[in-house]
Amino acid sequence: MNTLAAPELPACAPVRRASTPLAPWLTRRSVGPRRLALPGPDTSELAALLQAAVNVSDHGRKRPCRIVVADAAQRERYADAFLAYAASVRGLASPDLLDADTREHERSKALNGPCLLSLVARIATDDPEVPPHEQWMSVGASLGALLAAANALGYAGKALSGARIHHPAVRSVVCRDGELLACFVYLGSKPANG
Ligand SMILES: Cc1cc2nc3c(=O)[nH]c(=O)nc-3n(C[C@H](O)[C@H](O)[C@H](O)COP(=O)(O)O)c2cc1C
Repeated sequence: MNTLAAPELPACAPVRRASTPLAPWLTRRSVGPRRLALPGPDTSELAALLQAAVNVSDHGRKRPCRIVVADAAQRERYADAFLAYAASVRGLASPDLLDADTREHERSKALNGPCLLSLVARIATDDPEVPPHEQWMSVGASLGALLAAANALGYAGKALSGARIHHPAVRSVVCRDGELLACFVYLGSKPANG
């Protein structure tokens, strides 16, 4: 039997050619929320980015990924939830007992970056045709499409999770019953210094 020897992904040298139609995929690099500059994508650009994230391979059209754009009020709710998380991991009875630096650090995670999105996953465990790992692959495809589409529009971003996304106070900001917060995605303009 003939087999094709294909290079494995990690063995591929990174390609950074900006002048091909594949540039959005070949040039994407994560930029964290503290380095993202204004402006972020506007309303119509965000709508297009979310459409790109929905238009991915999805066995059974189960739509396992929902993306929520945070407004100012939701960012404040995340800031409060991050304080609750920080207090709980330190064994403190109340966020009021956190020191000022920790409070500032936690709040900044909710408020930094021009645009904050929540990737929410709903994974059905009772579908014999579409097992959970296939649904997670579709969620990942949505994240990839979102970041590549943002790059295509000239923006940058970064997916971030961390232990805080499992905390009930954080999850409850955006998740409905049966949903998981898969990660945050911060979007904005690329920093002037690269
Ligand atoms: C779902 C998900 C969650 C992530 N969470 C974190 C995180 O909490 N902290 C972190 O440093 N990187 C995290 N990353 C990785 C970064 O988003 C980024 O991909 C990594 O720093 C590599 O940089 P690059 O995208 O420029 O190759 C996460 C990636 C994914 C897909």
